[in-house]
Amino acid sequence: MEIAGLDFARRKEDLVVTGKSGTGKSHILQAIALRGCQAQMSVRYARCVDLLDDLYAGLADGTYQRRLKRWAAADLLIVDDVGLGQVKKRDDEPTAAHTLFNLIDRRHGKTSTAFSSNIKLSAWGKYLGDATLAVAILDRVNMRAIRLDIDGPSYRQQVARDRAKERGAKLPDDSAEPEAGREQ
Ligand SMILES: Nc1ncnc2c1ncn2[C@@H]1O[C@H](COP(=O)(O)OP(=O)(O)OP(=O)(O)O)[C@@H](O)[C@H]1O
Ligand SMILES: [Mg+2]
Repeated sequence: MEIAGLDFARRKEDLVVTGKSGTGKSHILQAIALRGCQAQMSVRYARCVDLLDDLYAGLADGTYQRRLKRWAAADLLIVDDVGLGQVKKRDDEPTAAHTLFNLIDRRHGKTSTAFSSNIKLSAWGKYLGDATLAVAILDRVNMRAIRLDIDGPSYRQQVARDRAKERGAKLPDDSAEPEAGREQ
C-alpha cells in the first residue's frame, strides 16, 4: 500500500523489485506506472533492453543527448526486466552499464526510478558489461530505495496448472519452475 500511494516517488526515492520469473514484478511496476499517470506525474516505462536500444539509436542519428534528456526528465521512470534479453553492443558503442549510469546519475535524487530484475543485483555487472559502473548505479539506487523481493510461485505456472486442471490433464514434469535468479 505504501508503494501504491507513490509517496516514494514524491520523495524522489527509487524502487527495486526482485524475484524469480513470473512472480509479478512487471505486473506491479505497470500498476505503479498507471497510478503515476492517474496522479498527473510524467511517467515513462520501458524494458531495460528497449530503453538501451533507444539510447543506442540516438548514437547513430545524433539524437542521443535529446533522448537521454527525455528519459532523465520523467518524474517516474520504470526500467522493467533488467536481466532479460541481450544488451550486446557494437564495439564502437559504450557498454550498457555506461549508458544506464549516465541516465541514473542524472536522475538520482531529483526523480524516482523503479527497476525490476530477475537476476541477483550482484549479477548486474556481468549483464550490463561493466562491474564497476554497475556498482556505481546500484550504489546510487540503493542509497534511497525501497527493496521488494518477491518469494513465491510463478503466476504463469499457476495459470498453466489451472488450465491443465480444467482440461483434466496433468502438467508434464519439465514444466517445473527452475531454481534461480532471486536475490539472497
Ligand atoms: N497479482 C497478480 N494477480 C494476477 N495475475 C498476476 C499478478 N501478478 C502477475 N500476474 C500475471 O502473471 C503473469 C506474470 O507476471 P509478470 O509478467 O509481472 O512476472 P515477472 O515477475 O515480471 O516475470 P519475468 O521475470 O519473467 O519478467 C502475467 O500474465 C501477469 O499478468
Ligand atoms: Mg517482468
